[in-house]
Amino acid sequence: MTRPHVVREAGLPAAVTIYEVGPRDGLQNEKTTIATRDKVRFVERLIAAGLGTIEVTSFVRPDWVPQLADAADVLAELDLDGPVRMPVLVPNERGLDRAVEAGVRWIAIFGSATGGLARANLNRTVETQFDMFRPVVSRARELGLDVRAYVSMCFGDPWQGPVETTQVVDVGKRLFDLGATQLSIGDTIGVATPAHVTELIGAFGDAGLGPDVLAMHFHDTYGQALSNAYAALRAGVTTFDTSAGGLGGCPFTPGATGNLATEDLVWMLEGLGIRTGVDLDRLVETSTWMAGLLDRPSESRVVRALTAPVT
Ligand code: HMG
Ligand code: MG
Repeated sequence: MTRPHVVREAGLPAAVTIYEVGPRDGLQNEKTTIATRDKVRFVERLIAAGLGTIEVTSFVRPDWVPQLADAADVLAELDLDGPVRMPVLVPNERGLDRAVEAGVRWIAIFGSATGGLARANLNRTVETQFDMFRPVVSRARELGLDVRAYVSMCFGDPWQGPVETTQVVDVGKRLFDLGATQLSIGDTIGVATPAHVTELIGAFGDAGLGPDVLAMHFHDTYGQALSNAYAALRAGVTTFDTSAGGLGGCPFTPGATGNLATEDLVWMLEGLGIRTGVDLDRLVETSTWMAGLLDRPSESRVVRALTAPVT
C-alpha cells in the first residue's frame, strides 16, 4: 500500500501549510557535515517535491554551529526571488547583516520561554533576549523582510522541568509583538501530549493570538509528535514545521532529537483528505538520498515503510 485510504473528518481544513525545516533544524544537529553542494541539492529536491516554504540555514555564530557555517554559500546557489519562501534563522544584528547581504527575504528570530535554553542557546536571559531581538525585528521590517518568531521549550524543559502555560504565553506574545507575522510554538524536547497542546493553543487564543498566526513545531523525542499535530489541527492550526525524513534537534538542548517527519505528517493529512502540495514519492526519494549521505536510515516511519523491500 503506497497511499492511505482517504476518510475526511468534518471541521478540519481543506489545506495545510508545511514549513520544512530539514535543511536547518535537521542539518544543524548532524555530526556529519554535509557538503555545500549537497545542501543546495537537498533544498532543490525539496522544492521539486512541492514544498513551498523551506527554512534553509541560519546566520548564527559559526563556531557555535559549524554545520551551517556555509549559510551564505548555500543561499548564493538558490533563487531567493522565486515563488518558494526560504527563511533563515537570525538571532542578532550581526546575523541580520549577513542575511541581508545574502539577499534573504524571510527571517526567523528564536526565543526561549525558559532561562535554561536562553542561556545555553543564546547566551542571554529570558529578559535580555528581547534586547537582542528588538533591533533585529525593527530593522528587518524597515527593510521589508518578513519575520517569524519561534518560542522554544513550550511544554517542558530539561533544566527547569515543567513550564507554566502563563510563562510560555507571556514570552511568546512578547516575541510576536516585536513585529512578527507568525509565532512557532516549539516542543524542543518532544515531551508534549495532545491535551497539553490544545490547552496551550487555547491560552494563546485568550491572549489574542489565534491559531491563524500560530505554527506548531514538534520534535518527536517521545513519539508524540504526530498525535500532537493532530490535536493542533483540530484546534485550528494550519501551519506545521516538519523535517524531511525526521532529521533535527537542537545541539544546545540535552536529549533533543528529530522533528516530526514531513512524510509522516503528509501521510496523515492525505488520509484525512487535506491538501499539502507535497509529492510523497519524490519526498521519500529525497529523504532516502539524504539518509545515504548521513550513512544511517531515516527516522521517518513512512519513509521506512515505503522503502521496505516487498517480499
Ligand atoms: P554571543 O557570544 O553572546 O555574541 O552569542 P556576541 O554578540 O557577544 O559576539 C561574540 C562574537 O561572536 C563576536 O566576534 C561577534 O562578531 C560574533 P568577535 O568580535 O569576538 O570576533 N558573532 C557572530 N558571528 C557571526 N554571526 C553571528 C554572530 N553573532 C555574534 N550572528 C549568539 C550570541 C546568539 C550569536 C550565539 O549564542 C549563537 O550563535 N546562538 C545560536 C544557537 C543556535 O543556532 N541554536 C540552534 C537553533 S535554535 C533551535 O534549534 C530551536 C528551534 O528549532 C525551535 C525548537 O525546536 O524549539 C528554532
Ligand atoms: Mg527545533
